[in-house]
Amino acid sequence: MDRNAILLPQSAIGRQREAIEKLRGLLAQEHTPPLAYVQTYGCQQNVADSQRLMGMLREMGCAFIDEPSRADIVLINTCAIRENAEKRVYGALGQLTHTKANNPRQLICLCGCMAQQESAAEKVKKSYRHVDIVFGPQALWRFPELLLEAAEERHRVFSIADEHGTIAEGLPVLRESGIKAWVSIMYGCNNFCSYCIVPYVRGRERSREPEAILQEVRELAEAGVKEITLLGQNVNSYGKDLTRPMDFSDLLAEIDKIPGDYLVRFMTSHPKDAGEKLFSTMARCGHVAHQLHLPVQSGCSRVLKAMNRGYTRESYLEKVRWARQAMPDLVLTSDIIIGFPGETEAEAMETVSLIEEVRYDALFTFIYSPRPGTPAAKLPDPASRQEKQVWFDRLLASQNRISAEIHQTYVGRRLRVLVDGETGDAEWPLSARTAGGRLVHLRGPKELIGQYAEAEIAGRNTWALFGSCVR
Ligand code: SAH
Ligand code: SF4
Ligand code: F3S
Repeated sequence: MDRNAILLPQSAIGRQREAIEKLRGLLAQEHTPPLAYVQTYGCQQNVADSQRLMGMLREMGCAFIDEPSRADIVLINTCAIRENAEKRVYGALGQLTHTKANNPRQLICLCGCMAQQESAAEKVKKSYRHVDIVFGPQALWRFPELLLEAAEERHRVFSIADEHGTIAEGLPVLRESGIKAWVSIMYGCNNFCSYCIVPYVRGRERSREPEAILQEVRELAEAGVKEITLLGQNVNSYGKDLTRPMDFSDLLAEIDKIPGDYLVRFMTSHPKDAGEKLFSTMARCGHVAHQLHLPVQSGCSRVLKAMNRGYTRESYLEKVRWARQAMPDLVLTSDIIIGFPGETEAEAMETVSLIEEVRYDALFTFIYSPRPGTPAAKLPDPASRQEKQVWFDRLLASQNRISAEIHQTYVGRRLRVLVDGETGDAEWPLSARTAGGRLVHLRGPKELIGQYAEAEIAGRNTWALFGSCVR
């Protein structure tokens, strides 16, 4: 698609601002301030999207509450990555029949990846008639217009056309804290891994202009934000669609020039496009954390091919070696799917052997969940759920042992950590992150929240480190 058609004109954004102004008046007639409840499922991309939606709601005059019964506007931002994610959303929607019955003027909005799926949208249309607005991720920027239509006309609004997707700059955002921020650098996905729904619900890959990203990072750094995470389904594809192409490593190097006391992280990096240039750039750039989430999915080359991942076990392992050569202190994490259709026990054990070889700091592990409409969902899947669970448990046992062993090597060390909040635990009242992103439960004064501190690590379990502030 033509780049000019992807970048939304300011007139389109201006229409949203006008809708926000009208809604500000309209909603104030119902309640002052109007109350909004926002629930977010899914990945960081969805969290970042919700911050945009909340930014729009705030400009409409809304205050936020964390319980839907009194809300004038309920917004559910959904995920479709696995069946379980969808079930939770239907559960939440079911509950909302009561809130709507008590408050018929409540406006219930369903958005996000699940809303973009035709089957789910149909089901909501027919069976969840209390839902007023349904829109997919590509229509997010139009939320004010859609909400205005539903509020004025009091009819149901569906905006779920299968769209390539656009880029909207200049919409408001409500950040959850002044310590950490998400910055989307691109939207959509072109990879079509055979098990994955994301390319069908998030449209094609499109990169934000580097100037817009740099400006956002500059503002965050100036505001004192300490941790900035760049988001994209495959950040290594960044820039391919720009008029003046630039790659992700070049973008990182440009961001690194921005002054300030902050760290940059990013996710997700697809192994097929990660390479020496990325690793050497990470090693060289002082603001870039030595942390890499490099989802392998499987340790078996046959399964990787069936997943359409574009790399083999060997080529993946080689990249891990390069990355560690460039950054000996690299914290490495991954995603794994166990039980892809047709995977045998021996193949699943190849994944276990890969994690033993790589020794990740931590893993996100999933049992395969068929997604209607994806190629993998049509493949024969003879292994039973029980068998897959046994393989999955073996994988977890290995990884838990490895994570604990790696955490043990931190004990007795002094590290710089970012104190990011409270735990609610009397003994270890603060939570913090190492530069590599590992969680630390910390003893120290509350005043440190939002600051870097020196921590001495005294203990660990599988998932976290424990320590005290020494400075
Ligand atoms: N873009 C990222 C992944 C986003 S989805 C990447 O390519 O790495 C996050 C994770 O969910 C994936 O890495 C995968 O491990 C898991 N996942 C995706 N589809 C799945 C499915 N159908 N069943 C089980 N897990 C799935
Ligand atoms: Fe899904 Fe693959 Fe795209 Fe990741 S890269 S979002 S797993 S299709
Ligand atoms: Fe879920 Fe969509 Fe993210 S399907 S994992 S919310 S991209």
